[in-house]
Amino acid sequence: MITFEVITIFPELVEKFATESLLKRAVDKKLLKITARNLRDFSLEKHKNVDDSPYGGGYGMVLKPDAVFRALKKVAGLKPANKKFLPSRGTKIILLTPRGKRFDQKMAAKLSQEKKLVFICGRYEGIDERVAKHMANVELSIGDYDLMGGEIAAMVIIETVSRLIPGVIGKPGFLDDRCTKDGFFESAQYTRPAVFSPQKAINWKVPRELLSGDPKVVKAWRQKHGKTVGKP
Ligand SMILES: C[S@@+](CC[C@H](N)C(=O)[O-])C[C@H]1O[C@@H](n2cnc3c(N)ncnc32)[C@H](O)[C@@H]1O
Repeated sequence: MITFEVITIFPELVEKFATESLLKRAVDKKLLKITARNLRDFSLEKHKNVDDSPYGGGYGMVLKPDAVFRALKKVAGLKPANKKFLPSRGTKIILLTPRGKRFDQKMAAKLSQEKKLVFICGRYEGIDERVAKHMANVELSIGDYDLMGGEIAAMVIIETVSRLIPGVIGKPGFLDDRCTKDGFFESAQYTRPAVFSPQKAINWKVPRELLSGDPKVVKAWRQKHGKTVGKP
């Protein structure tokens, strides 16, 4: 069982995501657990504020470090250890930020070995730098573009990691021949009909190798028309 905790000011976004399709089935089968934590619940302020304007001036608001710290104490077991604060064993604290290390399939495989992944989702102009410096174990980005918040990035990572947990998709062993130490093998796929005619005289055909019934021919075709995703 792997646990995902998402610290966000929009928990509903993540809660809905955990109640659909294969993820819901995996949650029901207790293969994984997804919990969204409302950052505002960890604010000590009267109106549950969690942001303030940036020191030095500038546009927008910045999420403050104190509520994040309290949330991490609760959900990641953050504790002092040799002048640092560390999470419980088997827990990784991930800060979502566009300047972080680029998330890929290889990293997903590594993260799938952890017991608990805790995501900190930024909003507005980002999060006070002390979160990156003293609380997070790793800063991850899902690509070189700027989103409005970290929730979608957290969901991308959760979905990718979840697919690698045995039993979440397909039968046990389903992923064995597609996952390598370098990433994940993806090939073109076809289904019925064998010939699709969007209009007269146009026939889009399924490659004959896939209709051959010969596993060797099919495998060779897939190798030729696929690639390993996440290869360094
Ligand atoms: C508008 S962005 C703020 C950008 C801010 N300058 C920074 O570096 O964090 C708001 C939040 O969206 C999330 N975010 C935006 N783009 C992202 C990306 N490519 N990957 C991961 N998270 C992203 C981060 O959590 C960020 O704090």
